[in-house]
Amino acid sequence: MITLAPIAAAAPAAVEHLLDAAFGPDRHGRTAYKMRSGVDAIPELSLAAFDDAGDLVGTLQSWPVELVADDGRIAPLVLVGPVAVRPDRQRDGIGRKLMVAMLDTADARHADPLVLIGDPEYYERFFDFTARWTGGWQVPGPVERHRLLARLRGHAPLPARGRLQAQRAAVAALR
Ligand SMILES: CC(C)(COP(=O)(O)OP(=O)(O)OC[C@H]1O[C@@H](n2cnc3c(N)ncnc32)[C@H](O)[C@@H]1OP(=O)(O)O)[C@@H](O)C(=O)NCCC(=O)NCCS
Repeated sequence: MITLAPIAAAAPAAVEHLLDAAFGPDRHGRTAYKMRSGVDAIPELSLAAFDDAGDLVGTLQSWPVELVADDGRIAPLVLVGPVAVRPDRQRDGIGRKLMVAMLDTADARHADPLVLIGDPEYYERFFDFTARWTGGWQVPGPVERHRLLARLRGHAPLPARGRLQAQRAAVAALR
């Protein structure tokens, strides 16, 4: 059986080890990492998955970011990811379990719209993310446009053009 808990229940070193196993040790240069540089994960939208032995088999982290529109408007968003499942436990429903739990909380709390960089074959198919809104959004690094996905459920349309960055207020609060 898989048990979910707040990510604080996992040892930080175990989380890093799992992320290295799922994405490789060079993951820190990825665009999504740059996008949320300087902010802490959002506790209620960040989860760990444990197996029966109490071993960490999956993690999901979410971060406060914002879309700074070309006209100066600022729209807060939640950057989802990394979502990672230990390689020997992939394709066993753990990623979906983590995502569904996070989405249930996000929807119940009317969290800001969600954005992520990931495979549409997974995040569009199961979780309603789409690249439809993101074509004019700039990110701090390379991105395959069809992998920049957003989920607006229940929210007003977001600015069509702008740049994504860590929420400045959250960065300042941690300084
Ligand atoms: C991507 C990831 C989080 C999915 O979690 P998971 O627990 O392995 O997958 P689930 O069991 O929840 O989902 C299984 C279903 O999703 C599909 N799926 C899983 N990962 C997929 C991917 N990257 N692209 C397309 N489909 C995918 C499977 O084929 C399966 O479909 P089926 O039910 O029709 O057989 C996990 O595989 C992972 O950590 N991968 C390494 C990191 C990575 O490459 N991430 C890429 C996206 S950012």
